[in-house]
Amino acid sequence: MQNKVQQIKSSLENHVKSSKHCDLWFYEEHILVVEKLALDLCELYPKANRDAVILSVWFHDIGRAHGHDVGHDLYGSNYAKKTLTENGFGKDFVNLIVESCKTHSCDENGKPNSLEGKILATADALSHYHNGFYLRILYSWSRKSKNDYHQLKTKLFKKMKRDLNDKILFDEVREKIIPMYEAWQKIVGEIKL
Ligand SMILES: [Fe+2]
Ligand SMILES: [Fe+2]
Repeated sequence: MQNKVQQIKSSLENHVKSSKHCDLWFYEEHILVVEKLALDLCELYPKANRDAVILSVWFHDIGRAHGHDVGHDLYGSNYAKKTLTENGFGKDFVNLIVESCKTHSCDENGKPNSLEGKILATADALSHYHNGFYLRILYSWSRKSKNDYHQLKTKLFKKMKRDLNDKILFDEVREKIIPMYEAWQKIVGEIKL
């Protein structure tokens, strides 16, 4: 199974690296960071199925690499189901990844119930505390939107709050990140675009 997991991961890695829908940032500063953070969480919660967590990381945003930004949660979940079933993985294992991908945004698709799904959603949110993500997103919104920067900052504060309270699903992890959250709030609060 280990070999098959690695093969599927490599194939998805190639999809992401060669995608014309996302830049290198998405691969280097999102997916690789989420994977590292998710594996750190596996150390903290050793009952998690590590292979399921790794595959969840690689499938969760594959929709973005395939040009399906909107609805990418369900896209990734369906794509994982098809790919893993075709590769002979067992139903319970496949369902862990399907559920993790579907719920990783903790929005209208629901929140994860499995440990592996909680690890993915948490790692996805924690990745936003790395590589200046919040500045990047503010800059990108300001280029696309007609809203003034007060409105964009309000939108960003909402996103930061959602990451902290709705996506970090382990109390002890949330506690630890609060100083970073407060620091980012201060930085964003002081920016004038
Ligand atoms: Fe996502
Ligand atoms: Fe993600």
